[in-house]
Amino acid sequence: MSGELPPAGTATGRKPRYRTWIRRSRLVVFAGLSVVCLVGAVLAFLSPWFLLFLLPLGLFGYITTILALTVYRFAPWGGDLQRRVHELIVAKAALPPGSKALDVGCGSGSLAIKLAKAGSVVTGVDSWGQDWEYSKDLCEDNARIEQVADRTAFDNQSGAALRFDDGSFDAVVSCLTFHEIADVERKTDGVAEALRVLRPGGRFVFVDLFGDPAFYPDGVLAAIDRAGASVVESGSLAESLPLPFPLRHPKVLGHAMLVAGTKDS
Ligand SMILES: C[S@@+](CC[C@H](N)C(=O)[O-])C[C@H]1O[C@@H](n2cnc3c(N)ncnc32)[C@H](O)[C@@H]1O
Repeated sequence: MSGELPPAGTATGRKPRYRTWIRRSRLVVFAGLSVVCLVGAVLAFLSPWFLLFLLPLGLFGYITTILALTVYRFAPWGGDLQRRVHELIVAKAALPPGSKALDVGCGSGSLAIKLAKAGSVVTGVDSWGQDWEYSKDLCEDNARIEQVADRTAFDNQSGAALRFDDGSFDAVVSCLTFHEIADVERKTDGVAEALRVLRPGGRFVFVDLFGDPAFYPDGVLAAIDRAGASVVESGSLAESLPLPFPLRHPKVLGHAMLVAGTKDS
């Protein structure tokens, strides 16, 4: 026996696995295309075909660089921005211990688990599509490792139609999920559905690409108002958290906003 203690907050010495928001498959595809174009350009050097490879090489190389740098910034060794966004949401929620909270689109459980560690009883829902490297098993394993399995539950549900009664939760949070929900007419329908299950007086904190007109042509504030909730705080994510290059890029978090408030009584 080494006598070494597991790191604080973990049950077994195993580390939780919180995947980044960038799908690895996407990075691999663009890196692969860049390599193919590079090899083509080298082989076609001194022929007119050279240009045919050079132009896509510039494009795919640029996308690969942005994706790789983004993964680096999100990861623990590159600034841990993903963890810091989740910690920001927990801080903005400022929930009293024992609060019943819901995380819509909980991914690998990182935000739900942080809320549970801060004292809430948390349900995380997600559709866990094949497109993502997240799963219910991964959430449950992470919760066990972080010693909050008794205060977390994870369920496969779509944010488009939650299987909870109106007003079931003291708080509802969500991070970068509403724009991903496909089975809705407007992305704001997912926001309204999340607010439906919030009790009067309950608190919500949402981070999403609310500033991107491709997802939210009319913004999100009017939809929150129509759903019977009041916005207390709204601004770009970069106002709350310094975002290093390339996270302010419009295709990364440049359109991300934090919107928080309460459900009207
Ligand atoms: C960018 S990830 C964010 C994950 C997590 N909120 C986080 O901050 O780590 C987007 C998440 O939305 C989830 N998602 C996509 N469509 C969904 C739907 N219809 N209902 C619930 N979750 C969905 C994905 O499975 C994925 O976990």
